[in-house]
Amino acid sequence: MPHKIAVLPGDGIGPEVTAEAVKVLKAVTGDLEFEETLVGGAAYDATGHPLPDETLKLCRKADAVLLGAVGGPKWDAVEPKELRPEVGALLTLRKKLDLYANLRPARIFKPLMDASPIRFGPSGPIDLIIVRELTGGIYFGDHYRQRSGEEAVDTCRYTREQIRRVAECAFEIARLRKKTVVCVDKANVLETSRLWREVLNEVKDDYKDVELSFMLVDNCAMQLVRDPGQFDVILTENMFGDILSDEAGQITGSLGLLPSASLSGAISDRRLTLGDADESPVVFGLYEPVHGSAPDIAGQGKANPLGAILSAAMMLRYSFGMDAEADVIENAVESLLEQGVRTPDLGGTATTEDVGGSVASRV
Ligand code: IPM
Ligand code: MG
Repeated sequence: MPHKIAVLPGDGIGPEVTAEAVKVLKAVTGDLEFEETLVGGAAYDATGHPLPDETLKLCRKADAVLLGAVGGPKWDAVEPKELRPEVGALLTLRKKLDLYANLRPARIFKPLMDASPIRFGPSGPIDLIIVRELTGGIYFGDHYRQRSGEEAVDTCRYTREQIRRVAECAFEIARLRKKTVVCVDKANVLETSRLWREVLNEVKDDYKDVELSFMLVDNCAMQLVRDPGQFDVILTENMFGDILSDEAGQITGSLGLLPSASLSGAISDRRLTLGDADESPVVFGLYEPVHGSAPDIAGQGKANPLGAILSAAMMLRYSFGMDAEADVIENAVESLLEQGVRTPDLGGTATTEDVGGSVASRV
């Protein structure tokens, strides 16, 4: 049975980069089926809602979702805010699809080693993955947001279960990498952080081969700039993850290359990427480049599709266990950068289609 992929191109450069990612997926395997639909501002304009029921239904039927980007100045002032693309589509998709584990790798491809001034510290180049809890914390706070003329309240709430499941995901990923997890929090101030530490210390018992340590978020922000190479897997709550992942992304110097995955379902229920390739496990996930809709360059063929293409590679790896195919895409990207086929953000003159086409022909 082919895996079903819901394609949600969205706004701005979303459609351009998504088209290239689909092209690459089609080139690397015949085992996927695609169905496309509207999301974000494009959906709002067409239907009055950034996440129409049809779109949510298509996502629920699919094995994975490939998303471009949503939002833009055109919809920034839409009221109520539940109808804005970021809140009405992105946050709602995360919650409704229970995409609780957000994986944001930040690493530098060898040919781009010169792109960032702070890419090296004492421990070498940045190559880490942030596992960000995505459906709890202050972003959702039980929808308990109050507002009067004089005050506003946002509540940060976490349950043991919410922490446990994302912690397991981080430990599983650590097993595929250097077997270390740094849990980032604000345990000197926040009660939720103390709960995170308690639960992490319990979960650790099932992962005796993985080393766990804790770091306060302000220190982590500093350490990332001082010596990004010291980190392998960073596990953290929703808002800290939002902030630290932008910081880590910028340290790589190439925002256009950053992919992400948002997973639902216990990642430990499948073998992740190790061994027994005959099983064909499916972890439901949504995959999207970290960059936004970049309306200023939309429609000009200037957008870098590599973030979307590398997100597609993550889909193959995490949702479908197709590690070999994911490796092929990642290696093709590296060799293409090596040969200087680059979009303007990386100092080149190639178009979005040139880059997508080159990756597709290489794989
Ligand atoms: C992200 C974005 C979103 C977030 C915004 C657009 C709501 O910054 O995916 O990091 O804060 O989660
Ligand atoms: Mg963010």
